[in-house]
Amino acid sequence: MEFFLNDFSKGIFIENYRFVSMVTLSEYLRQCAVEEGLQKIIFAFASAASEIADALQRVDAGFTGEKNVYGEEQLALDVLSDRIVQKALQSTGVVGLIASEELPDQVQFGNGPYAVAYDPLDGSSLVDVNLSVGTIFGIYKSDHFIGLCGDDQIASGCIVYGPKTTLLLTVKAGVCECAYDRKNKNFFLSKERLFIKETGKMFAPGNLRATKFREDYVELMEYWMREQYTLRYSGGMVPDINQIILKGKGIFTYPGYIEAPHGKLRLLVECNPMALLVEQAQGKATDGVRRILEKKITELTLRTPIYIGSKSEVENAENFLHSA
Ligand code: AHG
Ligand code: MN
Ligand code: MN
Repeated sequence: MEFFLNDFSKGIFIENYRFVSMVTLSEYLRQCAVEEGLQKIIFAFASAASEIADALQRVDAGFTGEKNVYGEEQLALDVLSDRIVQKALQSTGVVGLIASEELPDQVQFGNGPYAVAYDPLDGSSLVDVNLSVGTIFGIYKSDHFIGLCGDDQIASGCIVYGPKTTLLLTVKAGVCECAYDRKNKNFFLSKERLFIKETGKMFAPGNLRATKFREDYVELMEYWMREQYTLRYSGGMVPDINQIILKGKGIFTYPGYIEAPHGKLRLLVECNPMALLVEQAQGKATDGVRRILEKKITELTLRTPIYIGSKSEVENAENFLHSA
């Protein structure tokens, strides 16, 4: 069934989003009156997404023998994805500064007015077992990152490399999803005005190893199981949170514990962009105490615990968790 829209009001409203079709990403950005420079960066990620999706099909997921600044083994695909994103951002001519999960420090690109933080391939260790992975990005109008916070992002998004390649995007006017059409080599708007309901019995519990040290996390797990929540955890932050936004319900958690008090996930290149998407979809994202988007970026590699999803589910989790 095809829907031909001459404006979005004719979209078909489904439970927690409006289905649209035949509207390209560029038409959507024009309709949202997104500034030229920001459009260029979003198109750069769209073009990088199609190249990374191709690379995932044909490049071996082997190790490079190198480690990233976090001491994590770098896969060839991590490095290749980073190069693809860098090339795409360079070609916009409007990006002045980048910070990547795969680079040891931020890189000055020139004097463009935008700063872009990204994780070129999140969940890369899942590629060799053919699970979905993603790219995450946050865009700032700034010549620096340090001292800012996630609320300073003017846009953020994530790309999911799954059965379909999809882009979740916010320019701080709600959240839309665009799906990549291989035939037309273009992204088409597929869903707009996505929103996450107050509650939802679906949980994606990361870092379960922390239960060895954290009785409060054990109690939260027991609550979710006693209340018959549905477990939906893949090990990839992007597909796991994408699912919460598209299903309009649920909670993803990745707490800290004694060996890693701030957890594993990075504030700048992972948590800030995902927190903006979720808040723009009426959800909530905290570190157990504070909004993720209020946390000052004191260093590029800062990690943070994260509890993100349906508002009431995050608040309930906070009641169980006695320390971030
Ligand atoms: P990356 O592959 O970019 O290093 O990050 C993967 C992250 C995130 O996607 C996922 O939620 C988390 O790592 C899983 O961590 P554990 O392997 O510790 O469970
Ligand atoms: Mn990552
Ligand atoms: Mn990564």
